[in-house]
Amino acid sequence: MILVTGATGNIGRPLLRYLRASGTDRPLRALTRDRARASFPDGVEAVEGDLADPASLDRALTGARSLFLLAGTGPEEAVLAAARRAGVEHVVLVSSITVRTHPHLPTAARVLATEDLLRASGMAWTMLRPTQFASNTLLWSDAIRAHRPVRLPYPDLGLPTIHPADIAAVAASALTGPDHHGRTYPLTGPGPVTAREQVAALGAALGREVPLTVVSRKEAHEELAAAVGDAVAHAMLDLTGGDITDELRAVHDTVERVTGTPARPFAQWATENAAAFR
Ligand SMILES: NC(=O)c1ccc[n+]([C@@H]2O[C@H](COP(=O)([O-])OP(=O)(O)OC[C@H]3O[C@@H](n4cnc5c(N)ncnc54)[C@H](OP(=O)(O)O)[C@@H]3O)[C@@H](O)[C@H]2O)c1
Repeated sequence: MILVTGATGNIGRPLLRYLRASGTDRPLRALTRDRARASFPDGVEAVEGDLADPASLDRALTGARSLFLLAGTGPEEAVLAAARRAGVEHVVLVSSITVRTHPHLPTAARVLATEDLLRASGMAWTMLRPTQFASNTLLWSDAIRAHRPVRLPYPDLGLPTIHPADIAAVAASALTGPDHHGRTYPLTGPGPVTAREQVAALGAALGREVPLTVVSRKEAHEELAAAVGDAVAHAMLDLTGGDITDELRAVHDTVERVTGTPARPFAQWATENAAAFR
């Protein structure tokens, strides 16, 4: 059985669809903290539980041989120990490209520590290291819905933003295919896209112009910190323009190599998710 945690999230939702479509004969189970609010594809068993609640975690893990896990969503050491005890053989972990590009950031250091725990766990592993997600632009949805400008300090820096469904497609291959144990996959979109281009793509999907105002980093930090906290706000600003490395800008063809299908452009994500900005 494959246990998908983060099953209601940006990656988890398409992952369950890909796993169903893969025709795998292994049973699929999806974990959520609130079963009443979650909906999963037919044939997927829903279990309610919290990674931080050992009893519910043990119930969810019973019979699992593969585990899909997002770094940073629970007490990783306890989660991996419980998985090992339950007989899990292979873990696909969503890590981050920042463990290579920005290991000094606290957010990246924590993810790297989770990778290290998994490598030392005795279970087989596959590390997915995506760059920034297209879905991060949902942070702009309140402003766009209210017809206010999106306020950004670094509008013209291009980064190879990834569609979360591409991470899901790679994860599905890693969970069901034979050749992914011990692999570390850097994952990016098909090419660089600037924040200004993202705003324009959302405008095109909405059928109206979305205004953008360039602000200072200090102003952007104050606004972002209110939503995500001080340290994460600094990390996000570094990673979207304040502290960019060639490695963060690099485009990788891993999605196409693993899945056989090219990575999706941001404009596709914008079209598929326009309703969230309306
Ligand atoms: N955003 C980026 O640019 C970026 C870049 C690189 C890596 N990452 C990594 O990507 C991952 C986020 O993926 P995502 O966007 O798909 O997630 P997401 O949409 O934010 O959803 C989070 C998921 O985690 C589940 N969850 C949270 N806390 C939980 C808990 N205590 N117990 C059980 N489940 C819990 C939620 O389930 P319920 O609410 O249903 O319980 C939900 O399904 C993180 O590991 C992050 O570090 C993100």
